[in-house]
Amino acid sequence: MTRPQLPPLVREAMAAAAGSGFTQSCSAGIGRLLQVLTAGVRNGCIGELGTGSGVGSAWIASALDPTSELVTVELDEGLALRAAGLFADLGNVTALEGDWSVMVHRAPFDLLFCDTVSPKRDQIDATISLLSPGATIVLDDYTGLAPVGDTERDAWLLHPHLVTTEVLVSATEAAVVGVRR
Ligand SMILES: C[S@@+](CC[C@H](N)C(=O)[O-])C[C@H]1O[C@@H](n2cnc3c(N)ncnc32)[C@H](O)[C@@H]1O
Repeated sequence: MTRPQLPPLVREAMAAAAGSGFTQSCSAGIGRLLQVLTAGVRNGCIGELGTGSGVGSAWIASALDPTSELVTVELDEGLALRAAGLFADLGNVTALEGDWSVMVHRAPFDLLFCDTVSPKRDQIDATISLLSPGATIVLDDYTGLAPVGDTERDAWLLHPHLVTTEVLVSATEAAVVGVRR
């Protein structure tokens, strides 16, 4: 089966990442999962913690309904500036520079891509509080098979405020997907 082509905005973000040596962008598997979940959000707000070079944002922006918006935040000034440039023509995409915690002022989110260390490992409850009831959270960078004793993954999978599962996005990579109760 032939996979759909990469959206032009994703190709642009990937090229910018490659040009600057940024290697932490999300995979195409995660990007396609984000696209699918984004397409289901109408009149809603989508957030991303950790913009990086804008690849994940570009996947989301490529499926964003005109009635919805995307807000992404990045600590690194240079990366945040680049993302702001990449999305300058899209009125419903905002690329902020700052710590992820500023997103409390943009919450609640209907879909949240949590892609930076602190909210993923140390501030799980604060991260979940950014979600509206019924909202979806996506976390990436997990190996395909959950190793026994993966405390970070378990903290999400077993969290009492979430209904969660793991979704394989390739032969070797899984995402944790949760919905806030
Ligand atoms: C894995 S990369 C993000 C990749 C991006 N989400 C994508 O899918 O292409 C994580 C990013 O989080 C940023 N970051 C690190 N600490 C942060 C913080 N406290 N607040 C916001 N962003 C942070 C890093 O600079 C880095 O660019």
